[in-house]
Amino acid sequence: LGIPPVDPQLERSLSDALDEVESRLLAAVKSDDDVLGEASRHLVQAGGKRFRPLLTLVSAAFGDIDAPGVVPAAVVVELTHVASLYHDDVMDEAELRRGAPSANARWDNTVAILSGDYLFACASVLLADLGPESVRIQARTYQRLVQGQLHETLGPGDGDDPVEHYLSVLSDKTASLIEASTRLGALHGGVPADLVEVLARYGERIGMAFQLADDLLDIAGESAISGKTPGTDLREGVATLPVLYARRLARPDDARLLELISGPIEDDAAHAEALSLLRAHPAMDEARADVLRWADDARTTLASLPATPARDALESLCDTVVTRSS
Ligand code: FPP
Ligand code: MG
Ligand code: MG
Repeated sequence: LGIPPVDPQLERSLSDALDEVESRLLAAVKSDDDVLGEASRHLVQAGGKRFRPLLTLVSAAFGDIDAPGVVPAAVVVELTHVASLYHDDVMDEAELRRGAPSANARWDNTVAILSGDYLFACASVLLADLGPESVRIQARTYQRLVQGQLHETLGPGDGDDPVEHYLSVLSDKTASLIEASTRLGALHGGVPADLVEVLARYGERIGMAFQLADDLLDIAGESAISGKTPGTDLREGVATLPVLYARRLARPDDARLLELISGPIEDDAAHAEALSLLRAHPAMDEARADVLRWADDARTTLASLPATPARDALESLCDTVVTRSS
């Protein structure tokens, strides 16, 4: 995604602050233990879009981006995110992440889980210096990440609407941390309380668009660009929005697809067939329309913010989220 095209002064501030985030990320995960140090550095160094830190910094720019808590807050949200990825890749049995072998593939599940725990602990060390309000925000987010991941695994309960269930999973497992990213940035930038709430609402909405786009990429994306293996959700039997919409549309000639996506798909040929049927299915267009709607909702919240270069940056991110390919 990268820094959106904004006015040169803000761009310089963001670029400097992101450089600082990079060096502090590496400093934060240092360990005397060789395995822990190497395994924890692994995904931090593999790159990543740094979308959450960017949102923290841009949100802070509505106040003072140079305030002392801003960069540490950006580091905290990225550490929390990366930690959750170590655990997610274990649960999803994913082998590729950020174009590198996942930690579970490179080492094993135990090392991956413990490295994720270690990264959370590293985030907590930094949070201690950011004060109790920040600890509370991150802790509540952590609760929602866990809940979202659990509810995704359990699936909808009897009588639950599958699409509603799915959207609540997305809100918990992804939008929560993106909301926390904007909230922490605004808070530490000294942004007035009413604007903190607006930025948090923007974060929730762009977070929904971001994860819905991610789910579409899992079906239609290119591994070389996304750095992940396409079709992981399908393989694991995680019914994302396109799958739910395909089930709901259930056109007469969809029998084969519906049979294939009725559960996890182990067989390689069946997996490839399901992916190709789904890619061409109108359910994909329906899901794409939802991404656009969430991005538009995010854009709408910006009307309550002062017209500044920071607001232009957030607006531009609404466009990049819907066109993203990684
Ligand atoms: C990625 O989703 C996963 C998340 C955004 C949340 C992961 C949350 C947890 C593992 C629970 C939190 C755990 C702790 C210890 C706090 P995805 O699998 O759809 O995305 P992907 O395509 O990037 O793998
Ligand atoms: Mg995953
Ligand atoms: Mg997952």
